[in-house]
Amino acid sequence: MSATLLSVEDLTVRFGGLTALSGVTFCVAKGAVHGLIGPNGAGKTTAFNLISGMTAQTSGSVTLEGAKLDGLPTWKRTARGMARTFQNIRMFREMTALENVMAGAHLRTPESFGSILFRLGSFRAAERSAVANAMDILDFVGLSEQAERRGGDLAYGDQRRLEIARALASDPKLLMLDEPAAGMNPSEKIGLIDLIARLRARGLTLLLVEHDMHFVMKLCDRITVLNFGAKIAEGAPAEVRANPTVIEAYLGAKVARSLETRA
Ligand SMILES: Nc1ncnc2c1ncn2[C@@H]1O[C@H](COP(=O)(O)OP(=O)(O)OP(=O)(O)O)[C@@H](O)[C@H]1O
Ligand SMILES: [Mg+2]
Repeated sequence: MSATLLSVEDLTVRFGGLTALSGVTFCVAKGAVHGLIGPNGAGKTTAFNLISGMTAQTSGSVTLEGAKLDGLPTWKRTARGMARTFQNIRMFREMTALENVMAGAHLRTPESFGSILFRLGSFRAAERSAVANAMDILDFVGLSEQAERRGGDLAYGDQRRLEIARALASDPKLLMLDEPAAGMNPSEKIGLIDLIARLRARGLTLLLVEHDMHFVMKLCDRITVLNFGAKIAEGAPAEVRANPTVIEAYLGAKVARSLETRA
């Protein structure tokens, strides 16, 4: 058995009369790419919001490396080693790609307010290494040549990769991607599959929400399926795509057959 990095236990959230997540339990193994899939409105983004601390759960708990995170604000969870991207791209559109990545890293620059104010030597050294670090990350995601361009001016697929770079800048153990391939063309998707595989090879653990099933089945070691806020299945990709409940609730017979033939 591989060690668990993230465990989500009996997670429930109600918004007024709507139970958006209902008693959801799953574990993400260290070093795995774990998929979280299901139809529109199934509760996938809500699960990300609860795990990252942007929304408070009604009940249940979230544990990272054995430590409970319940009640911790988002920035403390980031400091503990989790980072996420958003279904709708969030970035500083007026800032350069490099500045966007550096903004994602500020948590890891242990400088006091005083040294920032007076621009002491130690801060300049830290800033230099922050620039070098951000450039390394841009290089890793394939955006080093876009470093000085405004985030908002980048091509759509590059903006999606810049979001990943920004998340990587906080040096996470767990990276949560909410529909990273949405709106990408086929060649951008192939580039993204390669990027995620390289992140995994570096030891990062990924939790991936995505509707492109070929993408999901190719990358994931394990998949959890949600429907109407509840977990309806979990297993390896081959098990999940053959599961009649998953086919009925989400995949449809046609997609399931095409996944079989391309596997
Ligand atoms: N803050 C909120 N207040 C009220 N209802 C919410 C809130 N956040 C989410 N919901 C509802 O919770 C349900 C789950 O939404 P969620 O965004 O998690 O779905 P999803 O699985 O990410 O869907 P999609 O694939 O379309 O992104 C939906 O019915 C949604 O309208
Ligand atoms: Mg969503």
